[in-house]
Amino acid sequence: MARELSEVGVVGLGTMGAGIAEVFARAGLSVTAVDVDDAAVQRGRGHVEKSTGRAVSRGRLDPADRDAIVSRIRFTTSMDDLAQAELVVEAVPERVDLKAAVLSALDRICPPDTILATNTSSLSVTELSVTTGRPGKVIGMHFFNPAPVMKLVEVVRTVGTEPAVVEDVEALAARLGKVGVTIGDRAGFIANALLFGYLNHAVAMVEDRYASREDVDAAMRLGAGLPMGPLALLDLIGLDTAHQILGTMYRQSRNRLHAPSPLIEQLVTAGLLGRKAGRGFYTYADRHSAEVVADAQTPVAGAAAAGARPVRSVGVLAVAGPKADADRLDALVPAAASAGLPVARVLAEPGTGPEGWTGPVAGLANADLVLVAGTDDPAVFAALGGLVQDGAVLAATSSGRPVVEHAAASGRPADVVGLHLAGPGSALRVAEVVAGLLTDPGAAATVHAFCARVELPAVTAPDRAGRIVDALLFPYLNDAVRMLEARYATADDIDAAMVSGCGYPMGPFELLDLVGLDVALAVERQLYAEVREPGLAPAPLLEHLVTAGHLGRRAGRGFRDSRAR
Ligand code: 3HC
Repeated sequence: MARELSEVGVVGLGTMGAGIAEVFARAGLSVTAVDVDDAAVQRGRGHVEKSTGRAVSRGRLDPADRDAIVSRIRFTTSMDDLAQAELVVEAVPERVDLKAAVLSALDRICPPDTILATNTSSLSVTELSVTTGRPGKVIGMHFFNPAPVMKLVEVVRTVGTEPAVVEDVEALAARLGKVGVTIGDRAGFIANALLFGYLNHAVAMVEDRYASREDVDAAMRLGAGLPMGPLALLDLIGLDTAHQILGTMYRQSRNRLHAPSPLIEQLVTAGLLGRKAGRGFYTYADRHSAEVVADAQTPVAGAAAAGARPVRSVGVLAVAGPKADADRLDALVPAAASAGLPVARVLAEPGTGPEGWTGPVAGLANADLVLVAGTDDPAVFAALGGLVQDGAVLAATSSGRPVVEHAAASGRPADVVGLHLAGPGSALRVAEVVAGLLTDPGAAATVHAFCARVELPAVTAPDRAGRIVDALLFPYLNDAVRMLEARYATADDIDAAMVSGCGYPMGPFELLDLVGLDVALAVERQLYAEVREPGLAPAPLLEHLVTAGHLGRRAGRGFRDSRAR
C-alpha cells in the first residue's frame, strides 16, 4: 500500500520549481517552497500568482480556489523549514554540484524516511542518489514545462531506489492528475531522449540555412500537428537547459546527432536563453511573454511570391501510384476550382507516355501550372517537358527524388519545382515548396502564389531528402523504435510520454502504424542514404517488422499487436 503524502517541499523556484509547487498545491498538498534569497522567492511566488491568475481570468479557476492554492504554499528562504516534509523535489539549475549540495543538505535536515526527488532532466539520478546517505529514498520525478499543463511525470528509479518509494511516488503522480511513467535511469529518460535529437536537428537546419526558423516552426506545427514548432519550443525550454541536456545525451550516446548545435552554444554564450531572457531564436514582448515581436530578419509576408508567373489554369497528372499522394492531390483540386482555376485532370499508368494517358491531355498541355503526383519517375518529367507550353511550371508532389533530378530530365530545368503536400493522413495542412539547384525563383514564386490562392499555408523547404517535415519527423520515429528495441520502455509508455509530456497529437508507434511501417522505412532509408549518418540508419526492428509483413494499421498488424516481441 502506497503512503499518502500530504506534506511536501520544493527547492528551487524557477519556472519548473514554481510550476511543481503549484501542481502540488492544486492537488491539496501542503507545500514548503524554498529558494536561496528573497528575490528568488518573490520571483517564484510571482510565477505561481501569474499562472493561477491566468486560470482565473480564463474562467478555469474560482478566485477563492486560487487563494486557497496560493495559501497552501509557504514560501521561505530556509531549508530548515523542510524538517517535516515527507517528500521534497529539488528543481535547482541543472548542475550536478548544485543538485548534489541541495540533496546532501536535505539528507541532513529531513527525517530518514523522507523521499528525496530530483527533477533533473538529464543528470544521472543514480549519481545524485549516492551523494546522500539514503540512496534508496532518492528518485527522479521529471515534470514537463509548463508543469501545470503538461500531464507527464517520468518516475525515474535507480538500481537502488526502494520499491516502496517507487510505489509512493507513482501514487502521488496519480493524485496530482498526472500520467506517471516509471523507467530506469538513462540520459534523457523517454521524452527528452526522443525530443532533443529532433530539436537539435531543427536548429542545424536553420543554422545551415536550409530553411528559416519561421518555416521550420510552421512546417512542424501544420505538417506534423505539433503544438509548437521546435525553435519556439527551445525558447520555452531555455537554450541553456537544452544545451545541458544535449551535452549529457551526447556524452552517453556518442551519437553525433545529439552533439549540441554550435548555434545553441552561441546563443547561450550571448545570453539569449529564450523566453526567460526575452530573446532566443525569437524576440519576445517581455521576459515572461509568449508573444513574439517582429524581428528584423522576419521575412515580409508575400515576399516569397514576388516574380510569380500568371496562373490561369492548372493541370494535374496523376500517375497510378501511392494512394496517399493521389488523395492529397485530389484534396487540392476542389480548392483550385473554387479559386476560379480550371483543372485538367489526366490519369496515367506508370511507364506510359502522353499517348497512353487518359483525360484532357490538351488541357494539361495548355495549363500554366502542372502538378504531378504518384510517381518519382523522372521519365514523366521528360514526357511533360516536351508537352506543356512555354513558361508553364511543373511541380513534383512526390518526394522520393530530389527536384533537380526531375528538372534535369525535363529539358526545361528552370521550370521544375517541388510541391510536397504535408499533413496527417490525406489532410492538407502545409505545402513545402522546393526550389532545386536549377529552378528559376519565379517558378518557385508561382507555386507559392498558387498556394496562397488556394489558401494552403506554404513554407520554403530545401531540396534535401525529407525536406523539412519528414526530415525531422522520421529520425524521431526511428529513435523511438531503437528505444523499444533496447527494451528501455514499452511502446505504450513511449506513446504516452510523447502525448502527455510534449502535447503530440499521437505517440510515435501510433503514428508509425498509421503511416505504414514500410513507408517509414522507405523514408528512413532515403534520409540515411543521403548523408550516411550512422544515427539515421533504420532500426533493425523496423526492417524486421516490414519483412514479416507487419506494415501497420492497413495490414492489421504493426507495433500495436507486435509488442510482445
Ligand atoms: N503556466 C500555466 N498554465 C499555462 C501556461 C503556463 N506557463 N502556459 C499555458 N498555460 C495554460 C493556459 O492557461 C491554457 O489553459 P486553459 O486551456 O485551461 O485555458 C492552456 O495552458 C493552453 O494555453 P494557451 O491557449 O495560452 O496556449 P497554447 O494552446 O498554445 O498552449 C502550450 C501552450 C501548453 C505550452 C502548448 O503550446 C504545448 O503543449 N506546447 C508543447 C510544450 C512542450 O513540449 N513541453 C515539454 C518541453 S520538454 C520539458 O519540459 C522537459 C524538460 O526537461 C526540458
